Amino acid sequence: MASTPAYYKNYWKITALVLFVIGVSIFHYMTGTTHKHHGLHEIYRRLYYVPIILSAFWFGLKGGLFCAIIVSFFYLPHVFYQWGGSFFTNDLPKTLEIVLYHVIGLVTGILSQRQMDAKMSLEKTIKERDESYDKLKKQAETLAQSEEQLRRADRLSALGKLSAGIAHEVRNPLASIKGTAEILSDKFKPGDKEYEFVEILIKEVNRLDAVVVGFLDFAKPKPPELKLSKINDVILSVLKLTEHQMDRSKINLETRLSDNLPSVYVDPEQMKQVFLNLIINAAQAMPDGGELEVESHRNSSVIVCTFSDTGIGISTEQQNDLFTPFYTSKKHGTGLGLAIVYRILEGHKGGISFITEENKGTCFTISLPIEKG
Ligand SMILES: Nc1ncnc2c1ncn2[C@@H]1O[C@H](COP(=O)(O)OP(=O)(O)OP(=O)(O)O)[C@@H](O)[C@H]1O
Ligand SMILES: [Mg+2]
Repeated sequence: MASTPAYYKNYWKITALVLFVIGVSIFHYMTGTTHKHHGLHEIYRRLYYVPIILSAFWFGLKGGLFCAIIVSFFYLPHVFYQWGGSFFTNDLPKTLEIVLYHVIGLVTGILSQRQMDAKMSLEKTIKERDESYDKLKKQAETLAQSEEQLRRADRLSALGKLSAGIAHEVRNPLASIKGTAEILSDKFKPGDKEYEFVEILIKEVNRLDAVVVGFLDFAKPKPPELKLSKINDVILSVLKLTEHQMDRSKINLETRLSDNLPSVYVDPEQMKQVFLNLIINAAQAMPDGGELEVESHRNSSVIVCTFSDTGIGISTEQQNDLFTPFYTSKKHGTGLGLAIVYRILEGHKGGISFITEENKGTCFTISLPIEKG
């Protein structure tokens, strides 16, 4: 519900007070002090207390006193016209009425002012409490995020070290199998059943080899060879590479690359791998076509690049495992794409995050520091 603006509320309060004082004054003067109207006249005189109390209640001490002065001003003509210009009539209570107006304005003003001050200080405390709560919540979130990153990095590094050895061991026999299969394939002619088997063998060995190479890349990442590079150029070179694939998959590409990005020290080959993995993932998430938006901009000391697709999105259960090596939801995936992306960005002191909604799409955001080191 929309709240009424303060000035609007005050406007109505002031109008009500003015009308009340004018109304009471009219009735007060119209009734006179003749015996017939004397009772009513006395009542009207006391009705002036109401706006004074209300004004004190609404506007505090200043309001109470100000209204008492205004009411006294309206009451003053009595002094001149009825009592012959002297305050000291033989009806002293009437003169004292002016004093009473001020006393009422002062006392109710002080009381209401105290209440207002207490209310304001309470509101301030509540605001401060809410602010510190928000701050605490943000800090807790950052802490949880850092903890998760730390745990992930730890997991990756332990797994990486352990498996790098195994991967090495696997590559050697793989090379032998491949060599043998190639020798065998020379013995058969295309069209022979055996030839087909050997071809399958070579294809599968190649696939396995790619997995192992990918894994070695991940497990034993090369330190980045930093070169002053234009990130947009790196992105564009990857987009050029994937252009044909995008067309075939009916993916509409939108680019919004900022013109005034500073050059940064990155390993362009590694960054190509990052962008390629993200773009391929996005394309694979849109098997029936869709839209891929690639954007870059500067945000204070970092360059930010986002890759948004209109694909299948990522379910809540999957989200925690995305960067874990070998986690894949795809039949032929290795599950190393994002783990490598993560590693490379870590080597560049950058970061990666994502937001996603199932059946709507996913947006990956990477950040790279502008300052070298
Ligand atoms: N843009 C995206 N939209 C939806 N899901 C995604 C997206 N990017 C990654 N994923 C999910 O994250 C998982 C891990 O991605 P990752 O790139 O690490 O491996 P992969 O793509 O499955 O395999 P590989 O990259 O080796 O082909 C994917 O299997 C997929 O479920
Ligand atoms: Mg992938």
